[in-house]
Amino acid sequence: MTTPSVPSPATREATSRRYLMCPPVHFEVSYAINVWMDPGAPVDAALAMRQWEDLRATYERLGHDVHLIDPEPGLPDMVFAANGGLVVEGRALGARFTHPERGPEGPAYQRWFQAAVDGGRLKEAVVPRATNEGEGDFLVVGERILAGHGFRTDPAAHREVQELFGMPVIGLSLVDPRFYHLDTALAVLGDDDVAYYPGAFSEGSREVLRRLFPDAVLASALDAAVLGLNAVSDGETVVLSAQATGLAGQLRERGYRPVGVDLSELRKAGGSVKCCTLELRG
Ligand code: ARG
Repeated sequence: MTTPSVPSPATREATSRRYLMCPPVHFEVSYAINVWMDPGAPVDAALAMRQWEDLRATYERLGHDVHLIDPEPGLPDMVFAANGGLVVEGRALGARFTHPERGPEGPAYQRWFQAAVDGGRLKEAVVPRATNEGEGDFLVVGERILAGHGFRTDPAAHREVQELFGMPVIGLSLVDPRFYHLDTALAVLGDDDVAYYPGAFSEGSREVLRRLFPDAVLASALDAAVLGLNAVSDGETVVLSAQATGLAGQLRERGYRPVGVDLSELRKAGGSVKCCTLELRG
């Protein structure tokens, strides 16, 4: 039983991707800048590293190319590479963080982008003007970019991104502090397909999402609460939190291949699969 608007499973096709990741060598929860973080709660650093290695190995097994940035001491959240920038068609826009605790990550990632330009792996590295937390709040869906605001990224950065990349940027208002970055509330599945948790968005933004993606996967509160939407899709395989079993089932029904990875230790900082992954497009 298929409806014409939902593509049949046979149309799912993976394309190989380039990802940037940062090993959680200095990972810990030593400050609290979101509601997931409790500096008093224990974090198993060795387990965090094994879980991250598992994610990296999963990408490599799927045929993706994983690049690494050197982790810097004193920057425990640097493992969340998604926040380091936005890369479209070989052009990178760096990040400018909201919280001073993460401030130096901006220049650290910018140096990596510049070295990639010098090495011929990227075309351009642009220093940002407005506050933006990279792919945490900017998600490319085919020919458009969805952009979150409310907790971190300044709407001025939405305009900056639209002007820089010449792609329509659609602002979405986040209202639940558990879902402080767009990539904690919405997963890009394909060029015209997303999954999201409606409760994370304002009434108006929910309406925008309904208009743009009438057939989107709507995730349950339970799957959202284990950061199941913080997922990475290559068009066919969707890597997501192993705890998001309901969402995995919904994805399977639509012809995707969900692959669960356990990142329980990194979730203590408010991050999961997508947070650890910056896509280097083009
Ligand atoms: N502790 C980090 C922060 O609050 C987690 C970042 C998660 N990254 C993401 N792309 N959602 O900034």
